[in-house]
Amino acid sequence: MARAGEVVAGCLALLRDSCAEGVTTAELDRVAENFIREHKGIPTFKGYRGYPASICASPNQMVVHGIPGPYELKFADIISLDVGVTLGGWVADAAITVAVGDPGPLALRLMEVTETSLMRGIARCVVGNHLGDVSHTVEEHVVANGFTVVRSLVGHGVGREMHEDPQVPNFGAEGEGPLLKEGMVLAIEPMVNAGTHKVTVGEDKWAISTADNSLSAHFEHTVAVTRNGPRILTASKAEDGAGLGAAHRLW
Ligand code: MF3
Ligand code: CO
Repeated sequence: MARAGEVVAGCLALLRDSCAEGVTTAELDRVAENFIREHKGIPTFKGYRGYPASICASPNQMVVHGIPGPYELKFADIISLDVGVTLGGWVADAAITVAVGDPGPLALRLMEVTETSLMRGIARCVVGNHLGDVSHTVEEHVVANGFTVVRSLVGHGVGREMHEDPQVPNFGAEGEGPLLKEGMVLAIEPMVNAGTHKVTVGEDKWAISTADNSLSAHFEHTVAVTRNGPRILTASKAEDGAGLGAAHRLW
């Protein structure tokens, strides 16, 4: 799973660098699929319940599950990019939200709060904690900053399959839910809206958008619960060692 996670992280780094005005989401999908296959991986999403692409690309008010297509990135967009890779029969899954040019203070704060909520939740992925401790920590950080967490979509266990038990909500109560044990691997993925938490499904039956057209951000990591604390299997090299940003130095 760590090897699958390295390919996911490399793919997201490449996608981040590929985001620019005028680039289409279909082009991002092609870049990602080529990268994944060059690294001997399989794009997990492709064919999953009929999903037609290798990544999800969800701009602005779209929350998740945007099917790549002719949409051209423009200045001040934010876009959420979600990648899953299967390697040697094991899956890793992660997502980032990227700014194209300067999307303004609200969007930048939404992105920062979402990523920090993820990192704070990850910090609670410790043997003996309850899953609700993770969920509650994510929600608390989001709500304290005036944003909302999507409730109708959740994170998940991950392993040989992309979606395994348990469900990982981005809201909940401390001390509730299953006990975290060594060897569990969770995909934690806060989806955070600037306005209402409510979402709608697009005509393609995939794309999920905010009900009030407010902006949305999404960050996700695949995280192993180890005896030495949480291990992020989809961390980019920059997140991986010393020199981490404040949000990442939580354990
Ligand atoms: N990270 C998303 C999830 O956990 C990716 C799935 S997209 C799909 O649900 F297209 F494959 F469904
Ligand atoms: Co996921």
